[in-house]
Amino acid sequence: MEPIDWKNLGFDAYRTRTVVFSHYKDGKWSTPEMTETFSFTMDPFAQVLHYAISCFEGLKAFRQKDGRIALFRPDRNAARMQRTADFLGMPCPSEEMFIRMCGDCVRGNLEFLPPYGLGASMYVRPLLFGVHPQMQLVPYPEAVFAVMCAPVGSYYGAHLKSCAAAIPGNYDRCAPKGSGSYKIGANYAATFKPYKWAHEQGYAEILYLNSCTREFVDEFGSSNFFGIKGNTYVTPLSDSVLPSITNLTLQQVAVDLGMEVEKRPVPLEELAEFDEAAGCGTAVVITPLSHIDMKPVLEEPGVSRSFRYCSDGEVGPVCKKLYQRIREVQDGDVPDVHGWCRYIGY
Ligand SMILES: Cc1ncc(COP(=O)(O)O)c(C=O)c1O
Repeated sequence: MEPIDWKNLGFDAYRTRTVVFSHYKDGKWSTPEMTETFSFTMDPFAQVLHYAISCFEGLKAFRQKDGRIALFRPDRNAARMQRTADFLGMPCPSEEMFIRMCGDCVRGNLEFLPPYGLGASMYVRPLLFGVHPQMQLVPYPEAVFAVMCAPVGSYYGAHLKSCAAAIPGNYDRCAPKGSGSYKIGANYAATFKPYKWAHEQGYAEILYLNSCTREFVDEFGSSNFFGIKGNTYVTPLSDSVLPSITNLTLQQVAVDLGMEVEKRPVPLEELAEFDEAAGCGTAVVITPLSHIDMKPVLEEPGVSRSFRYCSDGEVGPVCKKLYQRIREVQDGDVPDVHGWCRYIGY
């Protein structure tokens, strides 16, 4: 195996060695197996290929300061997958099985686990998909649960950096009362085109408004939104955003740091009132924003509103503090007072 350049890892589908999987059929899960071929075979009529019956999770494993390996809040990911699987009418592994297979996957790929202290970690991707061959639009109790992982970098290197986001006018991610709060693969299909559009214009992120009235902030294509106003952490209450585990964690960290937390609808106009604004999610923890531009129509040039928070690349003091604290807990540099780490070995 080639030595891994731990300091220059990106966020890519790095090919590790072992995928752990189990097949649900005839009312039970098979004993989990490990494959090293990195491939699946399935029936061409499989549900997932035609009807996108698929959901996933994303969590991280860290090599901590004392050498232990910790999964960060895997119980929350297990519960969220259960909720998503219910939405899709799929069978779902229990919390115990979910966490055990995540642990097996990390331990089965130990040579790819980044060492402590470089800002890198192991991204763990549990995937649940429907494999029953069918034409009818009805749930069927058959699925494969597979866990794969990839070493990922800190994204920012040694220091957090801010970037820009765009609000794509006349483009919605999900329907009101639809699938927005579930981690189904199909939600992400709707973000590929606006991401391409945004990246071509130099925006790293896209921010969606509520699709019913477009008057409130929902979330980014790959993370939740939060804003800082004085000593208050504000994050949208909406039934079409993914319940982010990083956001939940940051709300507690904010309280621990003596801040107020408000979870409530965030009107578009309020973007002008925040001192700092950012995205949050497992992959990057916090994406501080220098500015958010609102574009009236997806394909046409022009900015109708612009909300500025800091110079390009700079980061506000509260985002810095929140980021540092959460990373210290993940790396085992400070006591895990809330019991967020689940230890899976050395
Ligand atoms: C649409 C969306 N929102 C929010 C999040 C953040 O969720 P979490 O903090 O659980 O990673 C993600 C990340 O996976 C996401 O894809």
